[in-house]
Amino acid sequence: MGMDIAGAQGVDAKALYRQHCAVCHGEQRTGAMGPALLPESLTRIRPAEVLEVITHGRVATQMPGFAQQLSATELSALAAFIRTPVVPTPRWGDEDIRASRVFHPAPAADPAKPLWTADPMNLFVVVEGGDHHISLLDGDKFEVITRFPSRFALHGGPKFTPDGRYVFFGSRDGWITKYDLWRLRVVAEVRAGLNMRNVAVSGDGQWVMAANYLPHSVVLFDADLNLKKTYPAATLDGKQTSRVSAVYDATPRQSFVVALKDIPELWEISYSPKAEPIYDGLVHDYKMGESIAKPGFLGVRRTPLDEPLDDFFFDQSYRHALGATRPKTGDGAATAQVVNLDVRRKIADLPIAGMPHLGSGITFAWKDSTVLASPNLKDGAIDVIDMKTWEPVGTVPTPGPGFFMRSHENTPYAWTDSMMSPKARDTMTIIDKATLKPVATVREPGKTLAHIEFTKDGRYALASVWEMDGALIVYDAATFKEVRRLPMSKPVGKYNVWNKITRSEGTSH
Ligand code: HEC
Repeated sequence: MGMDIAGAQGVDAKALYRQHCAVCHGEQRTGAMGPALLPESLTRIRPAEVLEVITHGRVATQMPGFAQQLSATELSALAAFIRTPVVPTPRWGDEDIRASRVFHPAPAADPAKPLWTADPMNLFVVVEGGDHHISLLDGDKFEVITRFPSRFALHGGPKFTPDGRYVFFGSRDGWITKYDLWRLRVVAEVRAGLNMRNVAVSGDGQWVMAANYLPHSVVLFDADLNLKKTYPAATLDGKQTSRVSAVYDATPRQSFVVALKDIPELWEISYSPKAEPIYDGLVHDYKMGESIAKPGFLGVRRTPLDEPLDDFFFDQSYRHALGATRPKTGDGAATAQVVNLDVRRKIADLPIAGMPHLGSGITFAWKDSTVLASPNLKDGAIDVIDMKTWEPVGTVPTPGPGFFMRSHENTPYAWTDSMMSPKARDTMTIIDKATLKPVATVREPGKTLAHIEFTKDGRYALASVWEMDGALIVYDAATFKEVRRLPMSKPVGKYNVWNKITRSEGTSH
C-alpha cells in the first residue's frame, strides 16, 4: 500500500528489513546496536553508497554485507525502503528520554584534577568521523592524550562547560554524551530524540539543550542530563510543527536561541531566573487579546520572521542573530538576514549572493568598524560585511565554494577551505584580515583539506585532511609551514577549549 515502492518488483522490502536488519537497526528503524536508518538520518549519504554498504558491508564495523544472501533486486529494494518515512512516525516521548539515561557517578574520593599534565585550557577535542572516535589533544605538544569511541555520527560541535572540565557531544541519532576531560570518563548519556541537529550548553554550565529534527522538539536537560522540559517545536496555536535547525547559547543574554526550519520564528529561551515575563499576544496578533503574561524563565519568547532561518550565528554583542534562509525551491534564492533579538524583528537583509554559510561566519575588527566574513556554499567567495551599516565592504575570491572559516584575535589572517569544490577541495586559502586579500594557500593535492582551529595563543592553525585515512596537520600560523602531522580517521572537526569557552571572535559558537 502507498509507499510500497518495491512491491511492483515482487519484493516485500519491509519483510526483508524485518528479517535481516531489524535486529541491529531496530523494528522502527530508529537504531539499536546499529545506527538509525531514517530518511532524516540518511540525507548525508549518497544512494549509491547506501546500496554499497548493504551489499558489501562496512569494513572494520559490525555492518555485514548481504551480497551472498540477497538478490540485486532485493538489495536495491532495501536501499530504497530505508529512505521512505516510517509510518506511523516513530514516537520519542519524555518517558523514552528518561528511560534512555545512563549515569555513572564519580568513584568515591575521585580528586577534582586532571589525570594528565597538559594545559587544560589548550586542549583540543578532535572528532574523528571516520571510525567514530574522539581524540583529546595536548595543544602545546600536539600529542594525543587519549582516544575513545563516540556515539555514531556526531553532529554539531561539542560544547564545553565554562570551567573547561566537561564536554557534551551530540550525535545524529539523538544521543547526548557528557564526558569528563579531567578524569577521562563518560559521566552521563541520554537520547534526546531520534534525529538531532546539535546541542548547546548554557554559559553558567547548568543547562543543556538539544535541537531535534525528529520528533519536532527542543529538549532541556540539567547538567547531568536529567530531562527538565520538552518544548514541542510548534506555532503558538499548535497548528503547525517544525524541525529545529539549531540551538546556540547566548551567554551574555543568559539564553538559548533556537532556529526553526519550517516555521518563520526565532525563539529565545532565557535561563535567567530574572527574565522578564512573556506576552505572546503582543508579538503575534493584538486581536487575539492574548497578552496574559507567561513566566520569562525557561519560557519561549518568539520573534516572528518572514521566512524560517537555517543556521545562524551571533555578533560579538549578542544583540543580533545573523541567519540564512534556504531557497524553498531549487531555483529560489537564499537570503541572509539580521534579526535584532532585543526589538525582536528583522532589521536588515545582508547583501550576500549564493548560499552563505553563516553558521561558520566569523567577525573581526577592520578599519574603525567590525566586519562579518562568511563562507559561501555555492560560490568561491568570502563575503565581508560591515556590521554597523550591514553594507558589503569586500569580496575575497577563493578557488571554490567552502564550508568553514576561522581566525583568532592574535593572528592577522583568516583561513578558509574550498571543500565544496570538486577541483579545489584540496586547497586552504589564507586571507589577510587588513587588506581582505588572499595572501597564500596550503594544499594537500587530491585530498580534502578543511576545517581550521587555532591554538589558544593563535600561533598554530590545525587543519584536517578530511579522508578516512586522514590526518591533522599543524601549521605555523605566521609562516604557513607544516610543523606536525598526526594520522586521524576523517577528523571532521576540532575544538580548542579556550577559544570556545572565551567565545573567541575568530570562531563560530
Ligand atoms: C549485525 C548487526 C547489523 C545488521 C544485521 C545490519 N546492520 Fe547495517 N549497520 C550496522 C552497524 C554497526 C552499522 C554502522 C557501521 C559504521 O560504523 O559505519 C551499520 C550501518 C548501516 C548503514 C550505513 C548507515 C550510515 O548512516 O552510515 C546502512 C545503510 C545499513 N547499515 C543498512 C542495513 C540494512 C539494509 C540491513 C539489512 C539488510 C543491515 N544494515 C543489517 C549493523 C548491522
